[in-house]
Amino acid sequence: MSATETPHSKNGRLIEVFDNLLDTLRNFIRENHVTHEEYRHAVAFLGKVGQKGEASLLCDVFVEVSVDEIDNDGRAGTITTIEGPFYVPDAPALKSPCVLPQRSNEHGAILFFSGTVRSENGRPLAGAILDLWQSDTNGRYSHFDIPEVEAPYNLRARVTTDQSGKFEVQTRVPGPYEIPKHGPTGALLAALGRHAWRPAHLHMKVESHGHRTLTTQLFFKHDRWINSDVVQGAVKQSLIVDPIKHEDPNELLRNGMRDPYYTLAYDFVLETGIGEAARDQRN
Ligand code: DHB
Ligand code: FE
Repeated sequence: MSATETPHSKNGRLIEVFDNLLDTLRNFIRENHVTHEEYRHAVAFLGKVGQKGEASLLCDVFVEVSVDEIDNDGRAGTITTIEGPFYVPDAPALKSPCVLPQRSNEHGAILFFSGTVRSENGRPLAGAILDLWQSDTNGRYSHFDIPEVEAPYNLRARVTTDQSGKFEVQTRVPGPYEIPKHGPTGALLAALGRHAWRPAHLHMKVESHGHRTLTTQLFFKHDRWINSDVVQGAVKQSLIVDPIKHEDPNELLRNGMRDPYYTLAYDFVLETGIGEAARDQRN
């Protein structure tokens, strides 16, 4: 290490926030008169969280909402919400219009999801990427709840918008998601007397050159859990949608559809500015 590269200049941010975190924790311990037994219990709990691979699950349920709020404060365009623990990079790249990868016997009603990606000033963004991921109709995520060999990248794709900034994706209506009950996060929720459900949702990261990447979700108005998401604060009014159900037998016949299906239109607006990839390169 050179004389100018002291640990402090290299890790200044870490040192600054860690000291503050410790102060906050020590105050918490004093204010709540935490006993030694409680301390050991908490340490064992964190050990189990790591052992069961639930670090992201636990943190995303309880604190990601605050990070999202602070990091996107004052941002223009479509409102953000949490990424959650189930994002997988490098999903298949598809060009709109397209069908999300799915099993030959994929269950759940068909959903046609379409819209336009625009810049703050209203300009449609051709070649923007809509990176989509969602659970299946039973609330199971590929890669995590469904083995990859069974269904690789099931209901995940990076969809490129067409010349007019439009996307048209055929997918399935997702089901509500219940956080695993048998792990430490589920045990904590049960001990708190809270249910473990998230209302059904579609996840997306929307990116386009020269714009700030948008991470958000869309929720369904009539979902049973829409007003009681276990991730408190993740559902925002402008992210609640109400897809149109198509069930008229003549219409189904005309469109070659066997079962009732849904259509959903939603436009995304990106803040102009430096994208995450470019920001990472600069740092
Ligand atoms: C969490 C987020 C999700 O999007 C989800 O489907 C499940 C859990 C979470 O914040 O832990
Ligand atoms: Fe999710």
